Amino acid sequence: MTDVIKTADREGVRIITIDNAPVNAISAAVRTGLLAATKAADADPAVKAIVVTGAGRAFIAGADIREFGKPPAVGVPTLRDNIAALEACSKTVVAAINGAAAGGGLEIALGCHYRVAHPKAVLGLPEVNLGTIPGATGTQRLPRAVGIEAALDMIVNGVLIPAAKCPPGLADEVAEDVVGNAVALALAKPVRRLSKDDSKLAAAKAKPALFDEYRKGMARRFRGFTAPYKCVEAVELSVKFPYAEAVAKEREIFTWCQGQPEARGMRHVFFSEREVARVPSIAKDVKPRELKSAGVIGCGTMGGGIAMNFANAGMSVTVIETDTAALEKGLGLIRKNYAGTVEKGRLSQAEMDKRMGLIKGSTSYDDLKTPDIVIEAVFENLDLKKQIFGKLDRVAKPGAVLATNTSTLDVDAIAAATGRPQDVVGTHFFSPANVMKLLENVRGARTSDETAQTAMELARRINKVGVMVGVCDGFVGNRMLYAYSRQASFLVEEGAAPEQVDKAIYDFGFPMGPFQMSDLAGLDVGYMVRMERKERAPTNRRYANAVADRLYELGRYGQKNGKGWYLYDAQRNRSADPAVAALIEQVSKEQCRPRRAIGADEIVERCMYALVNEGAKILDEGIAARPLDIDMIWIFGYGFPRYRGGPMFWADEVGLPKLLERLEHYWKTADRDWLEPAPLLRKLVKDGKTFRDWAAKV
Ligand SMILES: NC(=O)c1ccc[n+]([C@@H]2O[C@H](COP(=O)([O-])OP(=O)(O)OC[C@H]3O[C@@H](n4cnc5c(N)ncnc54)[C@H](O)[C@@H]3O)[C@@H](O)[C@H]2O)c1
Repeated sequence: MTDVIKTADREGVRIITIDNAPVNAISAAVRTGLLAATKAADADPAVKAIVVTGAGRAFIAGADIREFGKPPAVGVPTLRDNIAALEACSKTVVAAINGAAAGGGLEIALGCHYRVAHPKAVLGLPEVNLGTIPGATGTQRLPRAVGIEAALDMIVNGVLIPAAKCPPGLADEVAEDVVGNAVALALAKPVRRLSKDDSKLAAAKAKPALFDEYRKGMARRFRGFTAPYKCVEAVELSVKFPYAEAVAKEREIFTWCQGQPEARGMRHVFFSEREVARVPSIAKDVKPRELKSAGVIGCGTMGGGIAMNFANAGMSVTVIETDTAALEKGLGLIRKNYAGTVEKGRLSQAEMDKRMGLIKGSTSYDDLKTPDIVIEAVFENLDLKKQIFGKLDRVAKPGAVLATNTSTLDVDAIAAATGRPQDVVGTHFFSPANVMKLLENVRGARTSDETAQTAMELARRINKVGVMVGVCDGFVGNRMLYAYSRQASFLVEEGAAPEQVDKAIYDFGFPMGPFQMSDLAGLDVGYMVRMERKERAPTNRRYANAVADRLYELGRYGQKNGKGWYLYDAQRNRSADPAVAALIEQVSKEQCRPRRAIGADEIVERCMYALVNEGAKILDEGIAARPLDIDMIWIFGYGFPRYRGGPMFWADEVGLPKLLERLEHYWKTADRDWLEPAPLLRKLVKDGKTFRDWAAKV
C-alpha cells in the first residue's frame, strides 16, 4: 500500500483508511493506493466485507486543490475508476464517514454500497462554488440516493449538510462509532449498487416539468452564473438517459464547465478568500492579541451594526453614545433589527435575548477601560475623531486596539491624537455592517504588526473577509468606486441615460448600477461630502458631479423622498423621470459636451476599465499588496460579480493589451485625462505580463 492508504482487518472486514493529512484530499497517490486496496480486498478470500474511512477529522474533504485546473496525470487512476471499483466489489462495501465528505469525497461514499456517518460529519457536493458540477458520477448517484429534488438542492446550492440533517437515503446510519457500526453493517447487508437502482427517480420521471420549475426559482439568486444551471442540466440527465450514458454526458458538462471563465473566476475567489488572510507586510510569527470584549463609540447606522457583529460572535460589547436619548435610539434600532430576523424565523427569541444581553449601553468613556478593542464610529469629522481618540488614549487599557471606522479620513492623523499610534488601525465596515462581508482594514504608517494582525483576527472572529490596505484617500474600495462613478457621470453628460448606464452595469453582473446606488445611499450624502471636501467646481470640465449637485439642489435626495435620479412610487418601484433627462441635457449644454448615442459596450468599458486602471495605481503605490486583495474588496464590499473573479482577475481575462488599447482610445479621443492609463498597466503590457504575473513577485 502507499503510505496514504492504511489497511487493517477486523472481524474479517477489511478497513481501508485514507490518511492524507490534513483533509484526506484525493491526490494521485490516494487514488492509486485506494484502487489497489479495493481490488486486493475484493480478491482476498479471507476478507468478508470492506469498510472505507478517513484518518483524523475528515473522511475525504474533496479533490486535491493542487490538481485544480491541470490536465489529469497520465497513468494514474481517476476518481471515477475508484468509484467504479468500489461499487463493483462482490463484497459489501460501507463508507464510514467519520468527518467531512465533500465533493469527490461524497462521490466515493456514494460509490460504496452503504454509508454510516458520524453525527458531526458534514456531507455535500460543493463543486458549484468552483464554477463547475460534480464530475465523477455525483449528479447521477445523489438523485438515486435521495431523490431528484433533494439532490438538486444539495448540488445547486453546494452547501455541506450535517449528517443529522441530511435527506433520507444519504446516510443509512448516523452513529458515533462509525467504523464499528460500518463493520457490523457490512457483515449484515448484501451488496447494493446505486447505479442499478432507479426507484427514487420515478417521481421525477412522471413529472418532467419539475426541472424547468426549479430553474425558474433560481433566476434571482443565480443571475449571471452558469454552473448552477449546468448542475440542473446534469441532474436532469438521470431521468432522461440510462445510467452509463448519463454519466458520460455528465463528464462532458464537467469538462465544458472547467474550461469556462466562470470556473477560473470562482477558483480564484475560492483561493483568494483564504489567501487574503495572509498579509505579506506582517511578519509570519506575529500573533494577534486576545479579543474577548469590545467597545463601540457611536451607536448610529454603522456603530449599531458593528456592535451586533460582536454580539453575534458571542463577545460582550459596550456601546457609547453622547446622551441617554441617542443611546436608547441606537439600542432600539439594534433590537428592531434582531426582532426582524426573529420574525422571519431565522433567529430564535432565546438567541436574540442572549445577543441583546451581550450589548451594554453607556454614556461614560470610563466603561471603555476593559475592552480589548474599541471601534470608533461617530460622525465623519476629523476634529471630533481626534478628540475622541485623545479621550480613548486616557481610558483604554494598555494594549487595547484602538480602531476607527472612518471611510475617508487620514488614519495617521487620528493615530497622532494618541500617545500610542502603534495600537491604532482602521477597521472600515460596509453598510449594513451586520450584513456586509467585507472588513477593509487600514494599516497606518505607525500601526504595529501585532495590531494589524489583530484587525485581521477580528475579521475572522466576526465571520468577515478581512483585507489589509494602506492609507490613501478613500482607501482601496471607495477610491476605485470614485473612478468608476466619475465615468458613469460623464457618460450621462455625453449622451447616455442614467437608466441605460444602470442597465449595462447590472447586466455586467453588479446588483445595481451607479445611479440606483446613488439614489439608495441618498444624494444628500454625496453632496455633503463634496461640500466638506470643497470639491465642487461646476465650471471645470473635469468635475463629474454637476448633475448630481443640481438634483440635490432641486430637493431630489433619492429613495428617501421618492425622487432622485429616478422617480419612486410608494412601493419604491422606480421609473425614469423626463425632468431629469431635461436637466441632464441642460448640463451637457453648459459643459459644452456634445451628446451622442452611447452603447452598453462603451459604458462597461469606460466604467470597468477606469476601475481597473485605478486598481493598477493602487498596486503600484503599495496601498493594496496584491491584485487578489482588490478583488476580494470588490466582491465582498461592492457586489462585483463573483463569477468574474474580481476586477483585477477579470482584467487579466479580458487581456491587458486590449484593456490598455481601449483606455488609450477613450483617453485620447476627448479631454478625458482622468482616463490616462496607469504606468503599471503600460509596463505590464510592454513586458507581455498580467496582474497575476505581477502578483507572483509578492
Ligand atoms: N454609513 C455608511 O454607509 C458608512 C460606511 C462605512 C463607514 N462609515 C463611517 O462610519 C462612521 C459613522 O457613520 P454612520 O453612518 O454610522 O453615522 P451616524 O450619523 O449614523 O452615527 C454616528 C453616531 O455617533 C454618535 N456620536 C457622535 N459623537 C459622539 C461622541 N462624541 N461619542 C459617542 N457617540 C457620538 C451620534 O450620536 C450618532 O449616533 C463615519 O466615520 C462614517 O464615515 C459610514
